[in-house]
Amino acid sequence: MKAPARRAAPASAAAEHDEILLAPTPAAWVRAAAARWRELLVDHANCEKKAASTALALMFAYPEDRALLRALSRLAREELRHFEQVLRAMEGLGVAFVRQRPGRYGHQLRRVLRTSDPGRKLDLLLSAALIEARSAERFGLLAPRLPAPLARLYQELGESEARHFELYSGFAEALGSPDWRARLHELAVHEAQLISTPEAALRFHSGIPVPAAPA
Ligand SMILES: [Fe+2]
Ligand SMILES: [Fe+2]
Repeated sequence: MKAPARRAAPASAAAEHDEILLAPTPAAWVRAAAARWRELLVDHANCEKKAASTALALMFAYPEDRALLRALSRLAREELRHFEQVLRAMEGLGVAFVRQRPGRYGHQLRRVLRTSDPGRKLDLLLSAALIEARSAERFGLLAPRLPAPLARLYQELGESEARHFELYSGFAEALGSPDWRARLHELAVHEAQLISTPEAALRFHSGIPVPAAPA
């Protein structure tokens, strides 16, 4: 398969990352995340590792797809560099690593994906595209609300994740499945529900924060 161009091939049908998100991040999440950025930074570090591991898993699943292998190898290295940048930010800001349970987002998103081909590859690429799009949106929302060193980092990461969205959605489209847009819509509906409903844990991709019960 030919590698998608920078703007995802073919350009005529390419979606922008903010166009495929069917619900904006709730204001309550933005307020909580900006106030509890130290806690969120720990989950963010985990998300960067997970993004690298998602790319590697796809490389193991589809070793015959040379164009995908090349693109994802670069992407996995970039995600690990992001991880190192977040680690440096944690060290600089005195944020200790605390073991956290993952939120529901990744797990619940994976639950609806097809587990065999045809269909599995498209679903994996589309779900990765949605996660990257949501990450780009949230970095953009948080950047102006965070202290200076983090604001700059989040601005840069937002631009990277938007590019990753284009890469994944470009490969999804290039599979040539006639229903790729319809499937993207189905998965986007599910994704929008996950970020629009209450969730106890505050995570980078969590839903509406639930206020802690009084002690
Ligand atoms: Fe990243
Ligand atoms: Fe990414």
